Amino acid sequence: MVQEKIWEKEYRNPKLVTGHDKPQSVFLKFLKWYKKYLKIHGSKASVDLGGLKVLDLGSGTGRNANYLAKKRADVFGMEISQTAIDTAKTRAGNLGVKYIKQSIGEKYPFENEYFDLVIDITSSNSLDEKERETYLLEVNRVLKKDGIFFVRALCKDGDKNAQFLLKNNPAKEKDTYIMPETGLVERVFSKNDFVEMYSKYFKILDMEKTESYSTVNGRVFKRKFWLVTMQK
Ligand SMILES: C[S@@+](CC[C@H](N)C(=O)[O-])C[C@H]1O[C@@H](n2cnc3c(N)ncnc32)[C@H](O)[C@@H]1O
Repeated sequence: MVQEKIWEKEYRNPKLVTGHDKPQSVFLKFLKWYKKYLKIHGSKASVDLGGLKVLDLGSGTGRNANYLAKKRADVFGMEISQTAIDTAKTRAGNLGVKYIKQSIGEKYPFENEYFDLVIDITSSNSLDEKERETYLLEVNRVLKKDGIFFVRALCKDGDKNAQFLLKNNPAKEKDTYIMPETGLVERVFSKNDFVEMYSKYFKILDMEKTESYSTVNGRVFKRKFWLVTMQK
């Protein structure tokens, strides 16, 4: 609830989110790989993603969900900020993306094995441990066998900004800190912790550490991220 208020405030008066309406290059790179994966698995969707069922967790203003819908995928976006959803819907026009206002840390309103692809692009960082357990169980439940789960998560290893925040602004749970500018709690992952947690539910196909810049209140920080491709 507290985190929801913070995100809502953030979208009304952005300090963190960029408002871009095009996917990041790392996601486009993932999609290239994904089309090849679909081809190997004999799916017609390898040509244009047509008919694929996709769930975008923490869909924000719809930069990824709307892009996938333009490629003819059948997309659901799950998001806690109504302001973000309103922007995403406006930007989607008549693309038919279904935006749902719900926490990704609660039970999902979908039947078992409904989705071909689930994406979490820097959205689950603010879940607490209990919510994270639900999120992992639910993604596993709604994903089809051999379905793919793509995650971009905050990395602890070698990230000076994370080390500083963990030392100076710690929150209650392991490897969490409170962002001074927004009050948002974030979790960062060491490689071992990420692998231990996610591999209980998924097979990790690829895990890459990347670096990019985040802007908070006009100040630029170098941050490290995990890009992880998993299979059920
Ligand atoms: C860093 S933004 C990323 C947005 C989007 N995935 C993108 O790549 O542009 C994180 C998003 O996750 C949403 N979010 C955070 N916690 C959430 C939760 N528990 N349930 C649903 N959405 C959440 C935020 O409102 C925000 O839109």
